[in-house]
Amino acid sequence: MTAALPVVVVRTPVPEGAYDALAAVATLRPLPVEVPRAGLLAALGEAAGLVAFLTDRVDAELLAAGPRLRVVANYAVGVNNIDMAAARARGVWITNTPDVLTEATAELAVGATIALLRRFAEGERELRAGRFGGWTPTYLVGEGLAGKTFGVVGLGRIGQAVAVRAAAFGARIVYATSDEVGPPPAGARRLTLDELLATSDVVSLHVPLTPETRHLIDARALARMKPSAYLVNTSRGPVVDEAALARALHEHRIAGAAIDVYEEEPRVHPELLTAPAALLLPHLGSNTSTARLAMGTLAARNVVAVLRGERPPTPVVDPTAPAARS
Ligand code: DGY
Repeated sequence: MTAALPVVVVRTPVPEGAYDALAAVATLRPLPVEVPRAGLLAALGEAAGLVAFLTDRVDAELLAAGPRLRVVANYAVGVNNIDMAAARARGVWITNTPDVLTEATAELAVGATIALLRRFAEGERELRAGRFGGWTPTYLVGEGLAGKTFGVVGLGRIGQAVAVRAAAFGARIVYATSDEVGPPPAGARRLTLDELLATSDVVSLHVPLTPETRHLIDARALARMKPSAYLVNTSRGPVVDEAALARALHEHRIAGAAIDVYEEEPRVHPELLTAPAALLLPHLGSNTSTARLAMGTLAARNVVAVLRGERPPTPVVDPTAPAARS
């Protein structure tokens, strides 16, 4: 008699084929993203694994609802939705999806910066509203990235990739970081955060959301920025105090902001929605077909490894590590 396959709850939708490797070794219980938390908790009773979305709060309550859980694979690089201590306490592996979305997110950050500085969205709104009255030398004049001081906050994988791309557009790179994963791009200068805020023309955020980075950009930080400077946030919404940012934009205390992530997604602060010079995107950072498939494939590989008793490729919490037992 063959043993029953382990049950793995997988959030959906994902790109076709993303969970194929997992489907070969487990019984998949697909759970559409619309199914609320209560449904997720109820589905976890028999589960050995969960592929979670960043919209799932993986905390002690959720882990208790899945007493057989051995692994939670987050379909994201950010893991601020996960209570690491609770996972360690229950002996559950936590994994994420680094690297595979670095290029996509870096492209979005630099693309949004250029779109903001060159007023792409504003121009398109003007044109569709029938307000394009023809070319003139002073119509919708923007700013170029070349020659600007581009401040990267957080020089992890994505911060590095953004710095390289912004440098390729001719920007001077400065950075402030507590998390350096490799050598800084050639010619980049390290500054304190306050120095970076005071001198950058563009401030681009690439830090994980932690208690230390929550509201890293608050009213005080915004006040340090030059009135001609732009803020770009493709990291996590709560890294920026949204109400303070909206105020700064309405009062023209900074030149503009490109925002892809929000404090309480999918809600956007109403004053941000009406703020001038704000390019607002719906959390599209990793949203390319290549990255989204690779994220799913990697999440699936992480679960497969744990089910086989192997070390997963991209662990964030290793419950077998000595620290976990202390
Ligand atoms: C992540 O992986 O953390 C991204 O925010 C998903 O787009």
